[in-house]
Amino acid sequence: MRVLSGIQPSGSLHLGNYFGMMKKMIDYQEHQQLFCFIANYHAQTSVSDGKALARGTLEAAANFLALGMDPEKSTFWVQSDVPEVQELAWVLSNFTPMGLLERCHSYKDKVSRGIAANHGLFAYPVLMTADILLFQSEKVPVGKDQKQHVEVARDIAIKFNNEYGEIFTLPEPEIDEEVATVPGLDGQKMSKSYGNTIDLFAEDNALRKQVMRIVTDPTPVEEPKEPDACNVYKIYRLFLDKAADEALRARYRAGGLAYGEVKQELFETARSHFAPQAARRKELLADLDGLRRILARGAEKARHAGAKTLQKVRKKTGLAY
Ligand code: ADP
Ligand code: TRP
Repeated sequence: MRVLSGIQPSGSLHLGNYFGMMKKMIDYQEHQQLFCFIANYHAQTSVSDGKALARGTLEAAANFLALGMDPEKSTFWVQSDVPEVQELAWVLSNFTPMGLLERCHSYKDKVSRGIAANHGLFAYPVLMTADILLFQSEKVPVGKDQKQHVEVARDIAIKFNNEYGEIFTLPEPEIDEEVATVPGLDGQKMSKSYGNTIDLFAEDNALRKQVMRIVTDPTPVEEPKEPDACNVYKIYRLFLDKAADEALRARYRAGGLAYGEVKQELFETARSHFAPQAARRKELLADLDGLRRILARGAEKARHAGAKTLQKVRKKTGLAY
């Protein structure tokens, strides 16, 4: 099965990004044909500082690689290193009714929040469609907010196929209901924009501060507590296997558990869980040319994988003459 997804480069990385999306992508590479890329063209809809975009792209790549993305097993690249998607996006634009884009929630939400509507923001789902269709992707794991964009990709593929024959595989979104939203320090969805994150690669002091800020209720230490109502537990459990989870739940219910104590344990667990990856990430970022070489090889693989489809498209549409 061909699985494809992209992630925008976006500065620091939190537990929600990791447990909600990256871990799943990294696990896919063992059993599926995985295509995974850093969506830096898409990031241009919100980042105009060139230095920040370039740095963010390198960091996002280092994060993925440090966390276990294996460029031998998967195809892992930076979107703008395969500019063929732009050509395909243009071709597909001609099969994209305005109404289809006008109905997109993500676009409407952004405009209603006061973000200036420009063509990049409006055409965002067409570029995303090109990302998906160029590689004949079958499954596209995404968060709920991106589901409609995958449906747009399907609609455009159907229109194109109706005109020219079965050129594109019809993609299916995959929304993992099981990896429910990872809660943040205040119990709301963990998100950069809410400032309620625990960051994977924070320095010890910063990490400890974040963990200590988790909001808890005023139940006295000696009283039994309900783990499912506790923000510390809801985050801590992400790191635990079944037996450790049961043991922690029993401690909550037995009484005598201080939140400060569980926070300290969570801090130590998170720190040691990501310590090897943090070290690997440092190494990758200390050798940017090495990192660029890994990404260049990934782009080559991706270009090769997309070439046949693009050739067919050029032929069918008359661009190849
Ligand atoms: P943020 O909300 O911090 O801006 P992004 O929107 O950049 O995060 O999310 C990048 C990826 O991480 C998306 O695929 C999204 O589904 C996933 N993700 C982000 N936050 C969470 C969360 N709290 N729980 C589960 N998944 C999340
Ligand atoms: N728009 C996606 C997001 O912000 C990122 C993305 C770009 C993507 N192209 C894609 C996801 C293709 C899946 C498939 O999360």
